[in-house]
Amino acid sequence: MSRPEDLPAWSALEAHRDATADVSLTTLFESDPGRFDALQGEAAGIFIDFSKNHLTRSAAGAAGDTHALLVQLARESGVEEKRDSMFSGGIVNPTEHRPSLHTALRAPRDADIRVDGDNVVPAIHEVLDRVCAFADRVRSGEWLGFTGKPITDIVNIGIGGSDLGPLMATEALAPFLHDRLNLHFVSNVDGSHLVSTCKRVGPETTLFIIASKTFTTQETLANARSAREWFLESKAQTADVAKHFVAVSTNAEAVAEFGIDTDNMFGFWDWVGGRYSLWSAIGLPVVLGIGPENFRQMLSGAHAMDRHFVEAPLESNLPVTLALLTVWYTNFLGCTSHLIAPYDQYLHRFPAYLQQLTMESNGKSVHLDGSRVDVETGPIVWGEPGTNGQHAYFQLIHQGTHVIPTDFIVPLESLNPLGDHHELLLANCFAQSEALMRGKSPDEVRAEMAAAGTSAEEIERLVGHRTFPGDRPSNTITVQRMDPAALGALIVLYEHKVFTEAAIWDIAPFDQWGVELGKQLAKAVLADLVGGRTVTSHDASTNGLLNRATQKRNIQA
Ligand code: F6P
Repeated sequence: MSRPEDLPAWSALEAHRDATADVSLTTLFESDPGRFDALQGEAAGIFIDFSKNHLTRSAAGAAGDTHALLVQLARESGVEEKRDSMFSGGIVNPTEHRPSLHTALRAPRDADIRVDGDNVVPAIHEVLDRVCAFADRVRSGEWLGFTGKPITDIVNIGIGGSDLGPLMATEALAPFLHDRLNLHFVSNVDGSHLVSTCKRVGPETTLFIIASKTFTTQETLANARSAREWFLESKAQTADVAKHFVAVSTNAEAVAEFGIDTDNMFGFWDWVGGRYSLWSAIGLPVVLGIGPENFRQMLSGAHAMDRHFVEAPLESNLPVTLALLTVWYTNFLGCTSHLIAPYDQYLHRFPAYLQQLTMESNGKSVHLDGSRVDVETGPIVWGEPGTNGQHAYFQLIHQGTHVIPTDFIVPLESLNPLGDHHELLLANCFAQSEALMRGKSPDEVRAEMAAAGTSAEEIERLVGHRTFPGDRPSNTITVQRMDPAALGALIVLYEHKVFTEAAIWDIAPFDQWGVELGKQLAKAVLADLVGGRTVTSHDASTNGLLNRATQKRNIQA
């Protein structure tokens, strides 16, 4: 085990942080005309400007060069070896004794990737071909509902990785969606989610996809059962379920037990983590929506970023660079959260998708060997699209007490060119990163207010409020257009960023034991909630809440 704080590069970075603490971002730009050209990168159609970060560059050598020291940390942490192990089917998920081979899902047909001695690529492409053939039948109108009508609505029932990826991707690629097919996603066990969705669709023309890796997830099964009841309340017979319900899962037995013909099931494998499953048959709603050809473009963009992650040296490796910046801010500069600000309305679910990817992966506090981690690990990830965010939470990132490293994400071209809207969008995006970095000094505020004719007294009353500290870091990530290939590459950029962070922190990114306790307790709490008895077996608060709910809901036995 390599505790990150014991590595030589860690101590070197601490010393470097102390030595460069007073250097502002604006000073770095003023003293270095080559900074933008030096601190940028491009791969798989993704361009990243990371020059607006607290990275000093030094002609004098690595000791003054933050990025070089961070790369040294990655090297000492064994990032390259761990990466190669992941790609070749090593047990990188040791607490579940599994490889994590989502990268194989976007490998070309002729690749050879082995699990337990067997090449998994032919089976991956077999399922992909079935998914595509099925999608073609639905899209063309050949697949008919029980009254002979083509499908018009797809309802995906799933949660977590069986929801967020397809939901995010179909929203992100809305301009590529099929004209006849409307996509809906039901995830929450709150009945309102299913009820409101069913109000918008008809049983004769709706196809339900029950998506669950395990096919044991309480919320998904409850929604699936209620959806089937709703369907059978129409004129449909039990035999018609086969025309309207398909499943995506690794658990054929449970799918059959639920009543879905396994001929209508698309499988995947236990070595595909839920939050990495978009590339598997879990992507079925995406294939239905954007079509097989576009989905294959998405896979090829993803694969291009995989190749970059494997082949590019750490120094110019984009996922590694983003990860190192997060380590720098989290472990050396005291930042606790990371903002994702897509300047692309279609990416409005991308921050939520990244929340699961990042926080379920790196929300850990033990090392791989089970010992306690003594440094901070995964930061809180959050965000909403710009420009809306500018009129809501941006106040805090500009003038609040927290320094929040931000990723701005923006396509250079719009998929919906409309007057000067896209120029306005781009200008706002670039202006925000500039404003965060430059800030506005008290003297600038005074001069501005004086020029506007404000009295000296009023200026002094307001100067503190109108000052911006600046010096706040950001990356700006651009793509030409947010098409399927670009989206694929963008998602994988973050997948490998998260992996690299975990490699440095020496934590396990592919399990999620932290979600289990709540699931266990929910079962016990449910039994007490519906039991109709006064409950005394929990803590006073939980007992009180249960008893109050029972009384107020009038469900005493
Ligand atoms: O509860 C967390 C989780 O296990 C996620 O990791 C997963 O994506 C989600 O639940 C859904 O699981 P399943 O696809 O098995 O229903």
